[in-house]
Amino acid sequence: MKVLIVGATGPTGQELVKQALTSGHTVTVLARRPDKLSVPQPTGDSLKVIPGEVLKLDDVKGALTGCDAVISALGGKAGVFTSCDVYTKSLDVILKAMKELEVKRFIACTSWGTKDDPELPYLFRWVFKPSILRNVLANMEVMEDTLLKEEEINWTVVKPPRLMDGPLTGVAPLTMEGQLVRGLPGKVHIDRSDLAKFMLDCLTTSDWDRKLVAVAAGSCAVAEAAAEAASSEGNSVDGEKK
Ligand SMILES: NC(=O)c1ccc[n+]([C@@H]2O[C@H](COP(=O)([O-])OP(=O)(O)OC[C@H]3O[C@@H](n4cnc5c(N)ncnc54)[C@H](OP(=O)(O)O)[C@@H]3O)[C@@H](O)[C@H]2O)c1
Repeated sequence: MKVLIVGATGPTGQELVKQALTSGHTVTVLARRPDKLSVPQPTGDSLKVIPGEVLKLDDVKGALTGCDAVISALGGKAGVFTSCDVYTKSLDVILKAMKELEVKRFIACTSWGTKDDPELPYLFRWVFKPSILRNVLANMEVMEDTLLKEEEINWTVVKPPRLMDGPLTGVAPLTMEGQLVRGLPGKVHIDRSDLAKFMLDCLTTSDWDRKLVAVAAGSCAVAEAAAEAASSEGNSVDGEKK
């Protein structure tokens, strides 16, 4: 497939580009600072890197021409007093370009808990969401709400918890439609490599078409099982007797 990747110079984006090439996709990258892309240039023409702005319609249309899908790993800066509009502004431009060029598939990344849910991890819900993540999550939420009303484009929004930088595990992530993967212990995460793989896998399945899908590392389920086993044996998770 021919894929346009935006946000490719971020850590998840770099993984997306690397794995997309390995999987045999033809990749176009639109980046305002292309020199930040550290993926080795493959031989042949499977990777095209175009300097430009994701917020400029002509730049996006130029990069998108000939592509079958768009994947976005764009990220806004978190901050209590830092406003964030990169998700909604880029979405407006990308959707317009996609419609004009009749490109139908869009896959993007936001986060767990853009909307409140009593099962969100305590620290996320009560410390980070109301403070440093507030503006970023609010803008992600507007982006998701816009997509939920979108009729022409086949979209998927992948929603990870805390991101880490481990290597590809090969273990399928846990998935659940909605704001979070329920029933996991407090410390949840996913490696960017596994997140990127899942986003790319969305290109070849219709399972998550027009859905918000929360993901978490497969290993989080192992941690949960261990916690349950320890609990039923009368031990706490770290091995101490209750
Ligand atoms: N960090 C976490 O624990 C966590 C948890 C859940 C969800 N997420 C979300 O997961 C996604 C991927 O995160 P990440 O850490 O891999 O990447 P990131 O650092 O959040 O994303 C950076 C990417 O977005 C681009 N970007 C930001 N503002 C831009 C703008 N105004 N115009 C054009 N490009 C812009 C950057 O381009 P430049 O290189 O040119 O700056 C870079 O390619 C993000 O949406 C993030 O919010 C993160």
